[in-house]
Amino acid sequence: MNSADLTPLTARRGASLQGRVRVPGDKSISHRALILGAMTVGETTVSGLLEGEDVLHTAAAMRALGARLERTPEGLWRIQGVGVGGFAQPSAPLDFGNSGTGCRLAIGAVAGSPVTATFDGDASLRSRPMRRVLDPLEKMGARVIQAAEGGRLPLTLQGAADPIPIVYESPVPSAQLKSAVLLAGLAAPGETTVIEAEATRDHTERLLKHFGAKLTGKPHGEHGRRITLQGQPELEPAKVVVPADPSSAAFPLVAALISPGSDLILEAVMTNPLRTGLVKTLLEMGANIETLETRDDGGEEVADLRVRAGALKGVEVPPERAPSMIDEYLILAVAASFAQGTTRMRGLQELRVKESDRLAATADMLRVNGVDVAIDGDDLIVNGKGTVAGGGEVATHMDHRIAMSALMLGLASENPVRIDDSSFIATSFPGFVELMRSLGADLT
Ligand code: S3P
Repeated sequence: MNSADLTPLTARRGASLQGRVRVPGDKSISHRALILGAMTVGETTVSGLLEGEDVLHTAAAMRALGARLERTPEGLWRIQGVGVGGFAQPSAPLDFGNSGTGCRLAIGAVAGSPVTATFDGDASLRSRPMRRVLDPLEKMGARVIQAAEGGRLPLTLQGAADPIPIVYESPVPSAQLKSAVLLAGLAAPGETTVIEAEATRDHTERLLKHFGAKLTGKPHGEHGRRITLQGQPELEPAKVVVPADPSSAAFPLVAALISPGSDLILEAVMTNPLRTGLVKTLLEMGANIETLETRDDGGEEVADLRVRAGALKGVEVPPERAPSMIDEYLILAVAASFAQGTTRMRGLQELRVKESDRLAATADMLRVNGVDVAIDGDDLIVNGKGTVAGGGEVATHMDHRIAMSALMLGLASENPVRIDDSSFIATSFPGFVELMRSLGADLT
């Protein structure tokens, strides 16, 4: 990217954060709702959809595959789907922008349809591993016609006319991989099974059931699941309500914990237990987070969270917690920088293959701002001293979560923190800067 295209932003320590906000809809559920709606004959409606760039790329891809999607002026999305195996041949490459989730899930959905599609994305997405999803999909009968080195994007996939159901033991804890196999399995006769050694987010499974598919999930080993889908179901169009994204709520939440005097309420945050590793860890660090009202919102549990600033202490974060907070280590590392003592986050190998190498980028973000940080194998170690000098400029590497984490760091550091580019924030959290400013954050 040309440096003229970058949009730098600076965060400064100022007033405490006060107020009551609802962050946008969950990104994982938003992608899945559009894809499953597109794979179901009849009208599915989605309210609360995250209208970030990542999800809008998935919407465009579903249109290119033949589904009709429209947004009402009130923000309700209406989808007329084409049914399992009913995708049309797209006339141009499908562009997923920055989004690994949209791309990998759509690859799974296309793998079970008799069409050929080309998948592409930005420089970040082009660098990310796709072999992990192609391996099981090839076993199911899909064919890779063309791909960049290592199976990366741009890649052209020919879906299977008659997909073969498989039993797949996932070599990596990845909800995207699991979801790709299950979506391909929709068109296969008989049972498709995914076995995961560590349970990952289960939104695909929940939504598949919501659309009428038959699916069972059983414990597997100490931390895992065995998920079996009955293929060729009659999917029923559904009404999907997307709850607020806990991975987005994480930013104002941690900002409030580390900005003295802050007192915030985050409304209706999804509390699916496979997404709550951050809150669990922060509570162990001594954070003042109160769960006010718990209720059901469209098949997911949600709660209002009251967050007040206070002292934090360093903790050990066990590796088996990683899948339930995989996107939250960056912002946890920010919280750990303001804690007293050492926080050791174990088993973070998957962070290396996110929108950027988040293990390296998180360490760099903290180091340039005077934090004592180290990487030891796959562990991240932050030695918190209670305060952070700040004053650094953070390279965001086309990664929305680095950008937001660095800004939250700057809201509580002694000196301002500048990021080189804030434009990627719009991939997952449209309105982030305005929302933070409405709470009192100094972002210019
Ligand atoms: C996601 C799964 C995770 C996560 C990503 C969203 C999903 O990725 O990092 O932001 O919606 O399935 P992996 O499956 O690669 O761990």
